[in-house]
Amino acid sequence: MDQIQFKRHRRLRKSAAMRAMVRETHLHAEDFIYPLFIVEGENKRNEISSMPGAFQISLDLLKDEIDEIKNLGLKAVILFGVPDEKDSCGTGAYIDEGIVQQATRLIKEQAPELLVIADTCLCEYTDHGHCGVVEEGYVQNDPSLELLVKTAVSQAEAGADIIAPSNMMDGFVAAIRKGLDEAGFLEVPIMSYAVKYSSAFYGPFREAANSAPQFGDRKTYQMDPANRLEALREAQSDMEEGADMLIVKPALSYLDIIRDVRNEFNAPVIAYNVSGEYSLIKAASINGWIDEKATAMEMLTSIKRAGADMIITYYAKDAARWLQET
Ligand code: PBG
Repeated sequence: MDQIQFKRHRRLRKSAAMRAMVRETHLHAEDFIYPLFIVEGENKRNEISSMPGAFQISLDLLKDEIDEIKNLGLKAVILFGVPDEKDSCGTGAYIDEGIVQQATRLIKEQAPELLVIADTCLCEYTDHGHCGVVEEGYVQNDPSLELLVKTAVSQAEAGADIIAPSNMMDGFVAAIRKGLDEAGFLEVPIMSYAVKYSSAFYGPFREAANSAPQFGDRKTYQMDPANRLEALREAQSDMEEGADMLIVKPALSYLDIIRDVRNEFNAPVIAYNVSGEYSLIKAASINGWIDEKATAMEMLTSIKRAGADMIITYYAKDAARWLQET
């Protein structure tokens, strides 16, 4: 019988060494950005019930956490504040003694080389839980910009290395860039949440940060999950307004968007592997339904393969540890 013609793809999969040699995507500890929830009070390390393995940490316990993060080879953290006091205009976001400002000063003192990224938003600080100023039941765009600029400048004054505005008001990058420049922070970059969808995958975060909207939803400012072209319009505006880096969020259900943004723009692209994506794997692995390490590493690899240069992920410490082990 004549031999049929076909290609033997399995030649390159024959051994672990062969597979490693032809592997296209590699994860490194430097790829990961670890989110930290900073809570007021003392001696607090509250596990977030919907995110086992993730904690709200008080300022006095931050030191050990930072040591661990450094020892794992991670290079950056992103800070979220969980203040005791909230009000209608989110004062806690931009006061000098704000929880994130205090945490930033502590971290920069202890570990000057660790990059501190400040998430610039109001929802953790407003009593209504929205990301901007609410009037007549609607989140107002331009009045919110002023408060976001104040927040970004106070975060830079505290020593934040990178400003990451996540509020999805129009014009926030232009406003914040101008504000930072006028305050003398010409070289503090903006990592913009340029493409942020109104996603049900943020559910566990809202417990972690106590930031659920008290009425309505975020659909008038965050994007519709059904839209793809809109992502490019958002990213385009942010690049024109002066963004240095672009975030796509969430990650796992939005790999096509990560790839689109990677192909269209030449800035670093960061994917936010959000709380719900973490909780899905956690819950299944706690039930013994899934291999946590293998699944989490596959998820992170796929996000990087889709085009992300960096990944904000609650799995950062675990992944760095797993990489050290192998
Ligand atoms: C603040 C903010 C949110 C997240 C990051 N920054 C919540 C939201 O927009 O409701 C979600 C992150 C996550 O789910 O891990 N606006």
